[in-house]
Amino acid sequence: MSTDTGKAQHETTRRDFMRYSSAALAAAAFAGTAAVKSVHAAAPNDTKLKIGLIGCGGRGSGAANNALLADKNVILYAMGDMFPEMVEESLGKLKKSPAADQVAVDDKRKFTGFDAYKKVIECCDVIILATPPAFRPTHLRAAVEAGKYIFCEKPVAVDGPGIRHVIESCNIAEKNGVVLVSGLCYRYENKKRETIKRIQEGAVGDIITIETVYNTSGLWHKGRKDNWSEMEYELRNWLYFDWLSGDHIVEQHIHSLDKMMWVMKDTPPLKATASGGRTVRTDAKYGNIYDHFNTLFEWENGVRAFSSCRQWENAVTAVYDNVYGTKGVAKVQTHEIVGRDGSNWKWESAEKDDMYQNELNALFNAIRKGEVINNGDYMVKSNLAAIMARMSAYSGQTVTWDQALNSELTYFPEKLELGDVAKRPVPVPGAAKYF
Ligand SMILES: NC(=O)c1ccc[n+]([C@@H]2O[C@H](COP(=O)([O-])OP(=O)(O)OC[C@H]3O[C@@H](n4cnc5c(N)ncnc54)[C@H](O)[C@@H]3O)[C@@H](O)[C@H]2O)c1
Repeated sequence: MSTDTGKAQHETTRRDFMRYSSAALAAAAFAGTAAVKSVHAAAPNDTKLKIGLIGCGGRGSGAANNALLADKNVILYAMGDMFPEMVEESLGKLKKSPAADQVAVDDKRKFTGFDAYKKVIECCDVIILATPPAFRPTHLRAAVEAGKYIFCEKPVAVDGPGIRHVIESCNIAEKNGVVLVSGLCYRYENKKRETIKRIQEGAVGDIITIETVYNTSGLWHKGRKDNWSEMEYELRNWLYFDWLSGDHIVEQHIHSLDKMMWVMKDTPPLKATASGGRTVRTDAKYGNIYDHFNTLFEWENGVRAFSSCRQWENAVTAVYDNVYGTKGVAKVQTHEIVGRDGSNWKWESAEKDDMYQNELNALFNAIRKGEVINNGDYMVKSNLAAIMARMSAYSGQTVTWDQALNSELTYFPEKLELGDVAKRPVPVPGAAKYF
């Protein structure tokens, strides 16, 4: 098994660090979702494109399937994962999918271990990044520097150094005309696009408050085997370790916070004040993450957002985002706007609107037309909002956008190898800084 030095991969220079002030980030000139002309020629429809999947779990396999369905002239060519059986399991599923005839992964192009990503990137045109998020900054940089077309799952980083590394990669992508589509999937759902466009155009008047909730049940756990090292155990149960997942506020609630940021036209909030802890999922098998967070986000213009997320078994669940304004209320998750004047709007179209398919369709459409999509701007900002809230909950302090952005704290291990890894404690608010 090869090794890689961890921390060095995320290091940024002082000069880069200075570029990431909130003002610079707010003004960052990413192309956003609008398609512009690529510096690369279009890949004509008769050019067969090779897809490489890095991270062959549930989402990676789903994204690979969507990619194959998006374009008849693409093949799944290489797969990379930490563990060989994950590659086989994913391949088995894809070979039974409607796009099975586009699956062309030879044994020579199944790669495993921490370095698998390098080999996949080397031999493919289109790269799907779907490992646990801690690895995304490194994998994204490699794909961007190699000039590949990229689908990048959320989250893209779990800490300040990771976020800054990703910002650099997005800047390089923009400079080089690299197509970079983010897995913040709601941005590719037509219903959400229409609802949020209406909010941004003033359908609820001036926004006063946003309420964003992701209260769900628990998630999977893979148990522990005697022959697994601590590193292997944590990788296989990555959700429960802050250094790998960023905690569930970053890993899952990011979708809600992304909608919140979208409504706010991706203007960074000034600060977050959060609380959280573990009250249900207290067993050591759940690593060191919390099971609930409540956060107040505050913007310069006085808007406040209240966010709640939790993962509790046998408790009431709810996923919604309400935007309260001077003229009415928008219910983003159900695509409704209720005006104080009695007006009512609701998305009624019966059109097929599968956001997971839409995002891969957009990627291949851009590639074939020689256009660039670079979702870097919102991909980074929504992620940083989630990290900022986690830092606040862990530390018990209010954390500003700039503090989160410029934070030097990382829990990424010094050395990546399947052996021991220092066990991370459950954060105790007030006991340490955590940002
Ligand atoms: N957009 C969405 O709606 C959505 C939904 C689910 C998951 N996701 C995201 O997709 C990513 C993957 O989630 P998942 O549910 O598929 O998890 P998963 O555990 O099913 O898959 C992750 C895979 O990555 C592999 N892996 C771990 N470390 C690796 C490394 N260093 N190099 C290569 N492979 C490595 C694991 O062995 C596993 O097979 C996460 O970032 C998650 O947040 C997004």
